[in-house]
Amino acid sequence: MFRIVKKERLNPLVYRMEVEAPMVAAAARPGQFLIVRTEEKGERVPLTISDYDPDRGTVTIVTQEIGASTEDICSFEEGQSFADVAGPLGMPSDFVGMSDGKLSGRRYVFIAGGVGTAPVYPQVKWLHSKGVAVDVIVGAKTSSMLIYKEEMSRYCDNLYICTDDGSEGFHGMVTGMLENLVQEQGKRYTQAVAIGPMIMMKFATLTARKLGLPIIVSLNTLMVDGTGMCGACRVTVGGKTRFACVEGPEFDGYEVDFDEAMRRQSMYRQEEKEAEPHVCKIDIRTKNQVK
Ligand code: NAD
Ligand code: FES
Repeated sequence: MFRIVKKERLNPLVYRMEVEAPMVAAAARPGQFLIVRTEEKGERVPLTISDYDPDRGTVTIVTQEIGASTEDICSFEEGQSFADVAGPLGMPSDFVGMSDGKLSGRRYVFIAGGVGTAPVYPQVKWLHSKGVAVDVIVGAKTSSMLIYKEEMSRYCDNLYICTDDGSEGFHGMVTGMLENLVQEQGKRYTQAVAIGPMIMMKFATLTARKLGLPIIVSLNTLMVDGTGMCGACRVTVGGKTRFACVEGPEFDGYEVDFDEAMRRQSMYRQEEKEAEPHVCKIDIRTKNQVK
């Protein structure tokens, strides 16, 4: 069993949990994910790893309540245990395999959207430990939805906050901030990495292309087994079918067919809606209950 040693609420919809999983923690690297099952025959929910501590034998997951399965995970409390935490799955970020010589002189900009900010954190931490320069753009709908501001600022050179409604930082989307940094402020980067909603990664890639900047994206496709057997996670990258669970989740953004990926991602939206238990939802801007 995989005991939750710490649970915190990061914003009205997002929880962070530190979970005992010593073997996963010992092998995890930035960019990888795991699959959680709350009960033995429960749904397998893929979640990116937001931190790992081999000494404590724990991994950290950050979950946004967006459907029946994520609400189930978020309902677990400290001291309770998940039936299964399988991982680490997928390939680590490509910089994990780079020599110090190859890394020196590289300058990264991370584009983090909403709850996708959490998996950016271990990547920034890892690059910082290698002395690599890292700027981070974090975007959210509104100030109260921003996560990981303090944690991220400990490890990055510059943190740029954006909100869609202008309640904090730059008034606009992460793509506007990226353009501003490169075109107005003259910042130079060798590599961009975008993690967040698929639509954000699509537009971050279009912006990066316009700026002549290579970009890696982390694809949160549908997943079932997470081991390359079922094909649920297939995406077209460079005109070829690739399995995000074993060959990804990170790919060259220029090569990804985002429109197809978004169509596949929404295939089961109706079924997910029907499976949702009735819960009270809160409008994050007004804090009022919505029907
Ligand atoms: P959100 O909708 O609040 O968007 C976050 C930010 O992304 C926005 O503030 C904006 O700056 C940017 N953005 C959104 N749409 C954009 C567009 N069209 N053009 C440019 N920028 C845009 O984010 P959320 O509600 O936290 O998103 C949750 C989504 O993130 C879920 O779908 C979840 O599956 C996904 N997610 C992805 C990963 C991953 O590994 N890729 C990890 C965790 C979560
Ligand atoms: Fe089944 Fe990737 S999730 S092949």
